[in-house]
Amino acid sequence: MRVDNVKYQTIWLKDRGTVQVIDQRKLPFDFRIVNLKSTEDIYKAIKEMVVRGAPLIGVTASYGIYLALVNASAWDWKGQLKEAMERLKSARPTAINLEFALNQHKERLANIYSLEEARNQARKTADELLEQEKESCRKIGENGLSLIEKIAKEKDSEPVNILTHCNAGWLATIDYGTATAPIYLAHDKGIKLHVWVDETRPRNQGARLTAWELEKHGIPYTVIADNTGGLLMQQGMVDMVITGSDRTAANGDVANKIGTYLKALAANDNDVPFYVAVPLSSIDMNIERGVNGIPIEQRHGDEVKYIDGYDKGNITTILLTPENARVANYGFDVTPAKYVTWLITEKGLCKPNKKEIKKLFRS
Ligand code: MRU
Repeated sequence: MRVDNVKYQTIWLKDRGTVQVIDQRKLPFDFRIVNLKSTEDIYKAIKEMVVRGAPLIGVTASYGIYLALVNASAWDWKGQLKEAMERLKSARPTAINLEFALNQHKERLANIYSLEEARNQARKTADELLEQEKESCRKIGENGLSLIEKIAKEKDSEPVNILTHCNAGWLATIDYGTATAPIYLAHDKGIKLHVWVDETRPRNQGARLTAWELEKHGIPYTVIADNTGGLLMQQGMVDMVITGSDRTAANGDVANKIGTYLKALAANDNDVPFYVAVPLSSIDMNIERGVNGIPIEQRHGDEVKYIDGYDKGNITTILLTPENARVANYGFDVTPAKYVTWLITEKGLCKPNKKEIKKLFRS
């Protein structure tokens, strides 16, 4: 995607030992690129959410393994590789893409015995995953487009109102986004759209990141407080919901940013279609049922107690609660499959049930 007319993706290899990413903690106030040179840099970038979003977490971790081998010593690279795998795996628990990326390396490096060969293989694996994720999002855009086109026809010249929760935009992936891919494509094809943007707490990823992305792309949007979606749906102001997913279970239950479940309930109550855009790399066939099966990340309570904002040219953090307030900070929730109208995948639209999801992996 373009940022002020310069083409960007969220991550790239600058030189043999340097991965560059956009620092998402600073957006929308500051656009900064950071250098990551070691597995520890990559671990911190994922943990502290310099990078976030399931597909981007996976690709970043994949380059983390490559960097581990760039920096490894010839006599103990297998040991160092193992340590890097364990360290990266512990960075964030919910997005399955992290495990997916590490398992890819594990399989491909299993029968390699020279460090040089391992480095080359790891670089190839990470580069391929990056391209594959980009292509999956592009196809998710194509496969979701018809859903928007259909409503656009019914609405004639009125804009299609789409609600999206959190940031499943290009910043959460490599390019295009998952939930936003059909939105960008529809807009580029001249379909009139308007996007309701939420996740205004705990991380404000909608208000900060999705709003920034849509603005840069010239798509009309309105930021709403998280509690507003239900009212808008009751008043017929939402034609569809499209969200992303950090991990989808074999039965079609969908883990996504906290608050998604409540949007799905409201959508169901108001007959608003609820679509989940998800690449196959975010589907975990090893978890039968998502509800009570997908691990839910609990993050530091300070994300709830404090809020970041922009004041006189500086990003500042202020306290929101009584100083000693006890807080809980669950990062994700799980929407049962029964509330999901379609999964939008790179292989096409899919009903959220085990039989149909299994077919995706065969075709
Ligand atoms: O905690 P985050 O920001 O890494 O959460 C990821 C998300 O932004 C979403 O839940 C997203 O909808 C799924 S990732 C494409």
